[in-house]
Amino acid sequence: MTRVTDRDAVPFDLASMRKQYRAEGLAEADLAATPVEQFARWFRQAATEGGMFEPNAMVVSTADAEGRPSSRTVLLKHFDERGFVFYTNYGSRKARDLAENPQVSLLFPWHPMARQVIVAGVARRTGRDETAAYFRTRPHGSQLGAWASSQSSVVAGREELDAAYAELAARYPEGEQVPVPPHWGGFRVVPRSVEFWQGRENRLHDRLRYVAGPDGGWRVERLGP
Ligand SMILES: Cc1cc2nc3c(=O)[nH]c(=O)nc-3n(C[C@H](O)[C@H](O)[C@H](O)COP(=O)(O)O)c2cc1C
Repeated sequence: MTRVTDRDAVPFDLASMRKQYRAEGLAEADLAATPVEQFARWFRQAATEGGMFEPNAMVVSTADAEGRPSSRTVLLKHFDERGFVFYTNYGSRKARDLAENPQVSLLFPWHPMARQVIVAGVARRTGRDETAAYFRTRPHGSQLGAWASSQSSVVAGREELDAAYAELAARYPEGEQVPVPPHWGGFRVVPRSVEFWQGRENRLHDRLRYVAGPDGGWRVERLGP
């Protein structure tokens, strides 16, 4: 059994690690009419001024039929008034969870801007045409990767993955069209609520949440930080 030595132990004084967040706030009057428009505004800022490596990286949390939660990072590939779209393997743990329980949370951790967006909603598979249109835009190697990996299954070793990839690369050399794997596709998350969190001074952050109404409209509520 490996012992945790002093050298491995937490090298920082975590209890004293804290940042003062910027003072610029988010007021009700500044919000767009819909959460998707507001998301578009913040996303544009995150992508252009935020200094972030992948602002479209989000934490997707699902739960199985017994309520056991799991989270992982996934890339947002499209959003509009219909919802937020990501692509994955339909045999993966997340996809199996969503088949049993379509409730999902998406979290965008935009730390450099002291911002966070949390979308709660229901995930549905995208249509095959939409999936195929996106698949065609992926680089050839990523298309092969979608075939090569049985995502979330236990593999014997790295060699197994490399061998599967090499076999596919021989069957579909660069320039050949790779068929869309039937076990791969998109999910569209239809939002029920979207919270915009802006860090403020003295931990008095702004939290404004859009909640879907029965008429298709949105109401906004402020939450305690
Ligand atoms: C930055 C980043 C982006 C990722 N993007 C995706 C993605 O778009 N789709 C995907 O299926 N997995 C993506 N992954 C891998 C997932 O985090 C995860 O390992 C995989 O989807 C299997 O998750 P599951 O076993 O919980 O279903 C990404 C990981 C990272 C760190």
